[in-house]
Amino acid sequence: MKTRFGRTISMVVFLSIAWGSSAFGEPDGARLYAINCAACHGDRGDGGIGVPLSLPDFLSSVTDEYLFLTIRHGRPGRIMPSFQHLSDQQTRAIVRHIRNWAAGEPKLAAKGTPGDPRRGRDIFARHCARCHGPLGKGGTGTGVNFTRLHDQPVVAPGLNNAGFLAAASDRIIRTTLLKGRRGTPMQPAAKMGLSIQDVDDVGSYIRSFEKGLENGGGNSGAAAEPALITTSPLPFAETVERIKQAISARHQRIIREHPLDDGLSTGRAGGRKHLVIYFGNIRHINTLLTIDPRMGLFLPNRVTIMEQNDGKVVVSAVNPLRFRNLFNNANLEHTSREMHELYSAILGEVSE
Ligand code: HEC
Ligand code: HEC
Repeated sequence: MKTRFGRTISMVVFLSIAWGSSAFGEPDGARLYAINCAACHGDRGDGGIGVPLSLPDFLSSVTDEYLFLTIRHGRPGRIMPSFQHLSDQQTRAIVRHIRNWAAGEPKLAAKGTPGDPRRGRDIFARHCARCHGPLGKGGTGTGVNFTRLHDQPVVAPGLNNAGFLAAASDRIIRTTLLKGRRGTPMQPAAKMGLSIQDVDDVGSYIRSFEKGLENGGGNSGAAAEPALITTSPLPFAETVERIKQAISARHQRIIREHPLDDGLSTGRAGGRKHLVIYFGNIRHINTLLTIDPRMGLFLPNRVTIMEQNDGKVVVSAVNPLRFRNLFNNANLEHTSREMHELYSAILGEVSE
């Protein structure tokens, strides 16, 4: 893996890229939300596989920066993907769209006093672990296959999680605890019988998870690299041809080709060359959807070919080895290995 595709470049293509731009080139937040988020969080943010995003208690407890960083980082090892391929502009457009669901500015609680994380650990074990997991890694199940606890309409998020900890400030955590989130099982601290001191203690315990993250703490799902990436020795057009041949040679049908502009030049073709090729075979797609309907996000199969500013042609695909952890579904083990072999073979045709 490392030698062949391990080339780290700053762009990580995670989900295939779908731009939403209005006629003026300003990214269209509603459209970007519909394409990238609605399948999990609901058309109007009322929740589904993902937690609700339109609840007043949620929107008044988090900042735009929190929303921005959550979209950027996702929640590694949880279902929430990272959207590294969206530009800052596009990400901000989605944030604005989410903001439209509730009036007014967020009102964060004041900063607390530094708490005692060891006391916080006991409080966590007594009051929080039954939902957020003993180590704070989050509740299990998704609701898709009704695998979550039946008395829980919303799966408790992972708190011992690099994505959450990077996005949430101390004040956001404190506000969430003090306020709770009406409409979800997350109650205000007072209702859980906690004092202000307890809140600060458990808050500093949650912060202390950060220390464990370097050695793999809450981050198990990130083990496989998110994307398979290779640099082609050929120019753009020839790379496209070679990739198409490689796809057909493996008995896959090319379903469609989707050229993208880079979202910066307004619809004119002057920008970089960028193409997504969708392919697959129907039987295989149906099998995967039966195993886990969320695989629909990554189907049909797709490979992205892009000419970078420096003229290099880069070919990339999502790394199927991530699916098993991403969706917490061991049944995806076998098929994701098969898909990994297929993608590797196709990219291998244009590896230097
Ligand atoms: C009955 C289950 C339950 C209990 C008990 C519970 N939580 Fe939660 N918690 C949830 C759910 C569900 C959410 C997601 C709410 C939403 O959709 O906005 C949540 C959200 C949170 C969040 C925000 C996380 C995020 O990603 O936005 C924090 C922080 C949190 N809980 C901390 C705690 C702490 C600390 C305790 C113990 C004092 C606790 N929770 C007890 C179910 C619970
Ligand atoms: C494949 C399903 C999926 C997709 C697609 C998805 N999310 Fe999520 N999202 C989740 C889940 C599940 C969580 C809860 C994380 C956990 O369980 O630890 C979450 C959590 C979040 C949170 C934190 C909520 C909180 O209570 O603090 C935000 C914000 C969020 N998602 C926004 C988005 C946005 C915006 C998009 C589109 C750009 C998106 N998500 C796409 C599944 C998804």
